[in-house]
Amino acid sequence: MDLIEKIKLNAKREKRLVVLPEGTEPRTVEAADIVIREGLASIALIGDPERIGSMVSEKGFENVKRSATIIDPLDHPMKQHYIDMMVEIRKKKGLTREQAAELIENPLYLSVMMIKNGDADGEVAGADNATGDVLRPAFQYIKTAPGISVVSGAFIMILKDREYGDNGIMMFADCAVHPDPTDKELAEIAVATAGTYRDIVGGEPRVAMLSFSTKGSASHPMVDKVVNATRMAREMAPGILIEGELQADAAIVESIGRKKAPGSEIAGNANVLVFPTLETGNIAYKLVQRLAHAEAVGPVLQGMAAPINDLSRGCSVDDIVSLIAITANQASGS
Ligand code: ACO
Repeated sequence: MDLIEKIKLNAKREKRLVVLPEGTEPRTVEAADIVIREGLASIALIGDPERIGSMVSEKGFENVKRSATIIDPLDHPMKQHYIDMMVEIRKKKGLTREQAAELIENPLYLSVMMIKNGDADGEVAGADNATGDVLRPAFQYIKTAPGISVVSGAFIMILKDREYGDNGIMMFADCAVHPDPTDKELAEIAVATAGTYRDIVGGEPRVAMLSFSTKGSASHPMVDKVVNATRMAREMAPGILIEGELQADAAIVESIGRKKAPGSEIAGNANVLVFPTLETGNIAYKLVQRLAHAEAVGPVLQGMAAPINDLSRGCSVDDIVSLIAITANQASGS
C-alpha cells in the first residue's frame, strides 16, 4: 500500500472534523466532496452560503450538499463566545472587542477559534491565501504545543530511488516556516519532525542534523549551532535517534556515513533530515523534487497545539484531499 493510501486509511478510522475556511474556492469545494465521498473526514466549509450553494448545485457536489456543514462567517452561532475568547487570549496585546468582532468575520480567524473551542479538529487553507495570512491567526490563538516554542513545516519526500530513507520515504524540515532558528529552536524542530514522522509515515525516525561539517570536520559558528541543537534535541527527547552534525552525504549514503561518522547508528541511514535554516531546507526539498522527480507532500505544519496546514496556492484538488487526510491523521495522533 502506498503512503497516501495508508494515510487515508488512518483518516477513515477516526473521521475527524476538518474546517476549510476557503469554502468558496472551487478546488477546495471539489476536494471536500471527494473527502466526504471517501469517508476521510467530516467537513465544515466557511463562506457565503449562497455562493457555496450555487457552486454545489452547478457542479453536482452531492456529498457536500448531503453532509458538509456550511458556516456563514458573518453569522456563526458561537460568535459572541469566540469574541470573548479572543479578547481574553490577546488581552496582553490590547485586542479590543471591536477588533475581535471584526476579525471573527474573517474565515481564517473563525476557523482557528472553532478549533480552539473544540468545535473542529483541524484546518486546511492556503489555496487562496498567502502562508503568513493562514499561519498568523493560528500562531496567535492556537499557539504552540507544550514544550515547543516554534512552528515549522515538514515535507514527506517520496523518492523514486528506494535505496534512501525507508524504502524511498524521507522527511525534510523545516522547509516552510521559520527562517533562522536558534540552536534551541532547531532542537525543537528536530523533535517535532521525529513526532510527525511517527504520526504520519509510521516507524522509527532516524534524525540527521545537517550541516556543512561532519563530526567536527569544520569549525564555524554555523556548525556550532547544529552541534548545540543536536545535544539539546537529545536532552529533550532521549528516546529518539538523533545524530549530528552531519553532511548530507554522510547522513544518507551508508559507505560515507561509515567513513565520516564511524559507529553511528544513523549516519548513512537517516530517514529524517533537519536543515539548519529555512533557506537550506526550502532549497533542498525543491531541488530533490525537481532533479530527482520526488513527490513532495506537505508542508505538514508541526509544533502547533492543533493541526493546521497550509496549501500552496498552485495546489491541485488531489493535494487538498491528501492534506485533509494528513490533518485528520495529525488530529488523531495516529
Ligand atoms: N512559530 C510559532 N509562532 C510564531 C512563529 C513560528 N515559527 N513565527 C511567528 N510566530 C508568532 C509570533 O511570536 C507572533 O506572536 P504574537 O503576535 O503572539 O507576539 C505572531 O506569530 C506573529 O509574528 P510575526 O513575527 O508578526 O510573524 P509574521 O506574521 O510576520 O511572520 C511567518 C510569520 C509568515 C510564518 C514568517 O515567519 C514567514 O514569512 N516565514 C516564511 C514563510 C515562507 O515564505 N515560506 C516559504 C514558502 S512555503 C513553501 O515553499 C512550501
